[in-house]
Amino acid sequence: MSAPKILAGTASQRLGGELAKILGTSLTGVEVKTFPDGELYVRVLEDLRGKDVVIVQTTYPNDKLVELLLLQEAAHSQGATRITTVVPYYAYSRQDRAFLDGEVISAKVLAEVVAMKADRVITVDPHKEHILAFFGVEAHGPSAVPEIAERLRDRGVDLVLAPDKGALDRAEAAAKILGVAFDHLEKKRISGDVVEMKPKTLSVRGKTVAIVDDIISTGGTIATAATQLKVQGADRVIAACTHGLFLSGAEQRMRNAGCDEVFATDSIEGGLSGVSAAAAVARALRIG
Ligand code: R5P
Repeated sequence: MSAPKILAGTASQRLGGELAKILGTSLTGVEVKTFPDGELYVRVLEDLRGKDVVIVQTTYPNDKLVELLLLQEAAHSQGATRITTVVPYYAYSRQDRAFLDGEVISAKVLAEVVAMKADRVITVDPHKEHILAFFGVEAHGPSAVPEIAERLRDRGVDLVLAPDKGALDRAEAAAKILGVAFDHLEKKRISGDVVEMKPKTLSVRGKTVAIVDDIISTGGTIATAATQLKVQGADRVIAACTHGLFLSGAEQRMRNAGCDEVFATDSIEGGLSGVSAAAAVARALRIG
């Protein structure tokens, strides 16, 4: 079977390139320009008629979503036979339910928009599994935890820690791959960048602990967990996540709290993207 045409938007050039390598092809040419008023222009430089097309684009920050919609339209209007939309990091996923009366379920709204011109959607480590149903088309949420665990393999990790219950499955999966123990903390979010964690006695004196989460945003969650670990005598603390937003000051905040190493995947491309999520995407592409 021939490789699909892979279009990578400007948010996912690195991951798109890695995916193309895995599938034995190269990226399809795309021109993206920004007009002086900030509006985007997209042109696909190859014929997509009758082709199986995979579009790779993280939807963060907001204008990357617009670019994705334009890429999808290009593939659709040119007559692609199938459009698979890969959203490595699906922004707005944390508003996955109405926590308060009157709140908008942003994750659902954007899923419906993305699914308008997609036959299939793939998004890596979705914040919650039920988000996949919001797309209303075939949707897969492969995990990059195996890739994260591989990167941790030679670090001498003794314990994988989930900073909250929501991250427990991922921490458990990483711990199983590494053949080590796992545990979790209890987190309460006070505000956007302040969290509280119940003190918990962990047997970490002199040990190396990897904290694994899906998203690092302000770094507050990891910093609070790392502080507990260092106070209890952990020797090394490594923070790892799939989606590294790393908002301004986040890395320093985590390092100040005692993190010796911080890394994420390239679902959001940046200086701390130490692992590629391309293999996880490739696993999902092979499903159908
Ligand atoms: C929350 O449910 C997520 O899994 C992360 O723990 C959270 O988004 C991390 O945010 P921050 O880095 O701002 O604490």
